[in-house]
Amino acid sequence: MLTLIRRATFNRFLELLPSSTLSHARTGIRMTSVECRDQVVPKDEVVRFIEECMCKAGTTPEDARIVGHHLMTADYRGHFSHGMNRMQMYVKDIEVKITDPVARPEILTDFQAIALVDGKNMLGQVVGKYCMELAMEKAKRFGIGMVAARGSNHYGICGYYTMMAMEQGLIGFTCTNTSPLMAPTRSMKAGLGTNPLSMGMAASDNDGFVLDMATTAVALGKIELAIRKNESIPEGWALGSNGEVTRDAEEAFKASLLMPLGGSEHSSGYKGYGLALMVETLCGILTGSNFGPNIRAWKTSDRIANLGQCFMAINPEAFASGSKERLTILLKQLRDLPTSGEKPVLVAGDPERQHMKKVDTEGGITYHPNQLKASEEFAKHMGVQPMKLVSKSTNF
Ligand SMILES: NC(=O)c1ccc[n+]([C@@H]2O[C@H](COP(=O)([O-])OP(=O)(O)OC[C@H]3O[C@@H](n4cnc5c(N)ncnc54)[C@H](O)[C@@H]3O)[C@@H](O)[C@H]2O)c1
Repeated sequence: MLTLIRRATFNRFLELLPSSTLSHARTGIRMTSVECRDQVVPKDEVVRFIEECMCKAGTTPEDARIVGHHLMTADYRGHFSHGMNRMQMYVKDIEVKITDPVARPEILTDFQAIALVDGKNMLGQVVGKYCMELAMEKAKRFGIGMVAARGSNHYGICGYYTMMAMEQGLIGFTCTNTSPLMAPTRSMKAGLGTNPLSMGMAASDNDGFVLDMATTAVALGKIELAIRKNESIPEGWALGSNGEVTRDAEEAFKASLLMPLGGSEHSSGYKGYGLALMVETLCGILTGSNFGPNIRAWKTSDRIANLGQCFMAINPEAFASGSKERLTILLKQLRDLPTSGEKPVLVAGDPERQHMKKVDTEGGITYHPNQLKASEEFAKHMGVQPMKLVSKSTNF
């Protein structure tokens, strides 16, 4: 079982490597995967490394820690596409002065359970944490708190904010708009982003569910992986430049037209499109941030992102008592359902829980060799100590 999880995790690294790292893979950096798979980076060391890089880039130590903890958490949960490998993008945005590393968020309107925040073009993780803390404070006073932000940037994994609320016994919800990458059903041009959302609630005994998902069928990274493996992509992932569904990974990457969750109209892709539009309404439309196709293109820094984000915290105690116990029962009932194959039924958050367990057992996070190489080079660029690897724990 553990071997299976390990293999799946390693494959996931490959899947989620950014294009720069994949091109390293193509050009063949010398660091054998066997060598690196025997070594891990302790979570604290990941945070230390990111923190130092962000400080060097110009953030306050406090904000650097927020970003460090967030990106480490993404890697810890197995979402490497939104972990440490995003740091370079944030640093670059600070270097070209398109993100402000020292501003503070400002509450623009505050009406009981609701507030509108201006993120002042700060790092998204700092804005996100600030807004979710405000929403939780309101939920404790009013039963529900909803905070929406404009003037924000890429804020990482949605699940981070949901879990902040869950840790306080609250239901968490968040979503963000993003750069246009999704072609709405019947369109051949990107009109919305991958617009992810997350909702979660804690059950008893540290259990719970955390739904955390993009509203596109897949992330662009999965198409990059298919190119590297010289594989075609499944139908329903992406359109080619001619607006037709394509199975050609190169063509899909060139066009960068992801299909909504569900794929084509025939397989109900309009539902994913609808969800993305729901996210856009809560984020861009409510806040006055950039929205839809008006957001800057992915990975460009020619103008500020001005993203919109939404955060909600709800106190379940404000409703019928016993919801935590009922959720515990439901999660068990779902996981105990008869299976159609060999794999057990999971609930949202289980794959991440399995990954975290593996990291804990092994004493740290296993990074892909090319990711390690890239971070070593980045350490030199930033003038900070590279990450120290330790031997993987074998006490299991
Ligand atoms: N900030 C941004 O701009 C941005 C954009 C897109 C995605 N993201 C983040 O990227 C991460 C990955 O998103 P994704 O859509 O690729 O996630 P995913 O497809 O890996 O998982 C989506 C959800 O499905 C659940 N899941 C997976 N397998 C399951 C199974 N067999 N049974 C039941 N549930 C299962 C997961 O626990 C998760 O909650 C998320 O953390 C998301 O917030 C961020």
